[in-house]
Amino acid sequence: MVGLCQTDCKAGMAVAAWQSLRPGIEDFAPDARLSLANVQRIAMTASDLPRIRLPSTSFAPACDLPAIGQGTWFMGEGLAPRQDEVRALQQGLDLGLTVIDTAEMYADGGAEEVVGEALAGRRDDAFLVSKVYPWNAGRDSAIAACEASLRRLGTDHLDLYLLHWPGSIPLEETLEAFERLRESGKIRRFGVSNFDVDDLASLLEKPGGNDCAVNQVLYHLGSRGIEHSLLPRQRRRGIPTMAYCPLAQAGSLRRELLTHPAVLDLAGSLGITPAQLLLAWAIRPVDGRRDDARHDVIAIPKAVQHEHVEQNAAALRIRLDDDALASLDAAFPAPDRKTPLDII
Ligand SMILES: NC(=O)c1ccc[n+]([C@@H]2O[C@H](COP(=O)([O-])OP(=O)(O)OC[C@H]3O[C@@H](n4cnc5c(N)ncnc54)[C@H](OP(=O)(O)O)[C@@H]3O)[C@@H](O)[C@H]2O)c1
Repeated sequence: MVGLCQTDCKAGMAVAAWQSLRPGIEDFAPDARLSLANVQRIAMTASDLPRIRLPSTSFAPACDLPAIGQGTWFMGEGLAPRQDEVRALQQGLDLGLTVIDTAEMYADGGAEEVVGEALAGRRDDAFLVSKVYPWNAGRDSAIAACEASLRRLGTDHLDLYLLHWPGSIPLEETLEAFERLRESGKIRRFGVSNFDVDDLASLLEKPGGNDCAVNQVLYHLGSRGIEHSLLPRQRRRGIPTMAYCPLAQAGSLRRELLTHPAVLDLAGSLGITPAQLLLAWAIRPVDGRRDDARHDVIAIPKAVQHEHVEQNAAALRIRLDDDALASLDAAFPAPDRKTPLDII
């Protein structure tokens, strides 16, 4: 059994889960089986699966996370049967997608309840992330908001708690609240979301700001703005990125993305789906093409459909080569100037 974590971090279940469940994957639908077989032809060995290191803090040991997790926006809203959402999250956990991202905002706490149901009896299988509204991020209000999230999630701690986007409450207050939550064991780490370059600079100069574990921002092949300034700065500071909307909400944020000829042709030639191509691109190594490269982007696609969850887990094993990356660069060039952070 190969463990991802060099510590006791639960996300180390990723590789082990994948390996132990591989025989079960053969039982999936014929289309999924075909797609999986093709992916494995270009895949890495299990020990090479991309993972992202969160350094140790005084409250948590270092932890390696799989580069693909699971989003939950729009869960708990009745758009899909609740049992399908619960089942999808459990399926993802079984396949190694151990990072689960949610927020008090999603379905007014309803998504957290779905996550809580999925984690009943198996809390330790997940690296659990939730977010606080900016207007709840005060010295005392953030603590109350976190406790409400914990109740809905049916757990006594979050692995990571994020400020959902910058607001008007002074960051010092939020940092103080996060510190108190860490001291009381209700959160292991804190981070931010939707922070652009200036927001991040201002955070990092505050006492305790350096402990920020991640910045969660919108990032997909059709929206590469962060590559100009934000991503390089985060890399210099060792702050991993959580890429939200990595599938551009199934293309709806950029209509032609999943049907663009460059995406269709490349996905077709690799025997993978366009969505898998987008995920493999989002989690490509820091230096793009080196085989032994470091990874620091975690993509968190949301998926309810069974075959989507399976395809997303299989995307962990796809490595795009130089030619593949170059063809995507040509169709979707990286920005040559700073653009405002894309936010949804
Ligand atoms: N911090 C923030 O401000 C922020 C903002 C937005 C999102 N987020 C987080 O990021 C997560 C992901 O973003 P998102 O949910 O907005 O969009 P997304 O993950 O880019 O797209 C989700 C859509 O893609 C579909 N899908 C999933 N896997 C697929 C596959 N393999 N093939 C084809 N379609 C597939 C899903 O369908 P089915 O569900 O039907 O399977 C769903 O319609 C959210 O759920 C949330 O946790 C954070």
